[in-house]
Amino acid sequence: MKSIGVGILGLGTVGSGVVKIIKNHQDKLMHQVGCPIEVKKILVKNITKERDVEVSPNLLTTDVNEVIEHPEVDVVIEVMGGIEETRSYILAALRNKKHVVTANKDLVAVYGSEIHKLASENRCDFYYEASVAGGIPILRGLVDGLSSDKITKLMGIVNGTTNFILTKMSKNGSPYEEVLAEAQALGFAEADPTSDVEGLDAARKMAILATLGFSMNIDLSDVTVKGITQITEEDLNYSKRLGYTMKLIGIAQQDGEKVEVSVQPTLLPDEHPLSSVNDEYNAVYVFGEAVGETMFYGPGAGSLPTATAIVSDLVAVMKNMRLGVNGQSSISPQYEKSLKEHSDIFSKYFLRIHVKDQVGSFAKITTIFSSHGVSFEKILQLPLKEKDLAEIVVVTHRASLQDYEEILQHLSDSDVVAQVKSSYRVEGDGVQ
Ligand code: HSE
Repeated sequence: MKSIGVGILGLGTVGSGVVKIIKNHQDKLMHQVGCPIEVKKILVKNITKERDVEVSPNLLTTDVNEVIEHPEVDVVIEVMGGIEETRSYILAALRNKKHVVTANKDLVAVYGSEIHKLASENRCDFYYEASVAGGIPILRGLVDGLSSDKITKLMGIVNGTTNFILTKMSKNGSPYEEVLAEAQALGFAEADPTSDVEGLDAARKMAILATLGFSMNIDLSDVTVKGITQITEEDLNYSKRLGYTMKLIGIAQQDGEKVEVSVQPTLLPDEHPLSSVNDEYNAVYVFGEAVGETMFYGPGAGSLPTATAIVSDLVAVMKNMRLGVNGQSSISPQYEKSLKEHSDIFSKYFLRIHVKDQVGSFAKITTIFSSHGVSFEKILQLPLKEKDLAEIVVVTHRASLQDYEEILQHLSDSDVVAQVKSSYRVEGDGVQ
């Protein structure tokens, strides 16, 4: 059988990893697909730049058309990043009947359904395993491994930078800025780390996971997002004291026909499987009606881990080529999107409130919660250094988001409340 030709857009950290895996694992790849894989052309910005992978200069080009129009390129691997320009290259490649594999979560979260459509019209494959949680085969885990089950909940630590920051802040007491700089130096933070720390990177990945998990077109704008920049040392200390671990968690949950998808700092009981996912590691906890709890764990970024996911997609394309079924594996969503109202979203909450240290303050706070039918599961009250103020930390029983938002409003309006210092969702306490 003739070889399969590959064109690569981008030769940065991940692109170099792809070249290395194709070269170093050639025997195993050949055994699986029955023919050699040959890199035919690679799009780069600078041909003469020094790289940490050996590539013949003849393979490099600065003209994208030399890759996406190359007659011997069967599969285009996109690892250059970016959204608009990259989208146009991918669409052009598909029109040229090239299969496309990408690691680009930003692009898939926004243009995934458009690209899928064009891919099937052209009988081409479009795969993006590396776009969520790097080296963890979670998309295939959902789409193939759990295809017979009904997924009702996905909880993900899908951003390594924020997990690294929260781990170091809570275990070593390291300051936020210092740990963020370390994450940047280690290379897993985005070029602009705002999208990591404000939760956008995780939101993109959750939109992809929820779309596949619930077979429903979930857009990025359907994901409510809160990042980690407001988290203080006090929040982390109280979490620990109450037996919780703070993580930036993506939650996608289905109840009946309706779904909710969010990314937010969340307290998990220390014994929850996601609580022990530390440093830059990622994990996705999946609850299926029949299978129950499962968890996928591993590196969410990095050159070789991400490249393994990309080359596995390449193998999937090649197996489809052998069977003549390219472009037929993407199943269009089964359900119309149906998002929950705030009155349908239930959770426990942690709140840290500064109140006037006077008779009756606590009773007034309790009344605000009880008038919405919300009771406390845990309470701590401590005097503060500031004169006349006390700090109350509570964990509520389950409440609807609508009630909770009204409670927050009443607390800020109350004459005994100096400030609601922080408030977080609490998950994983017995209810999936
Ligand atoms: N910035 C991302 C992270 C890289 O920290 O997880 C992988 O998508």
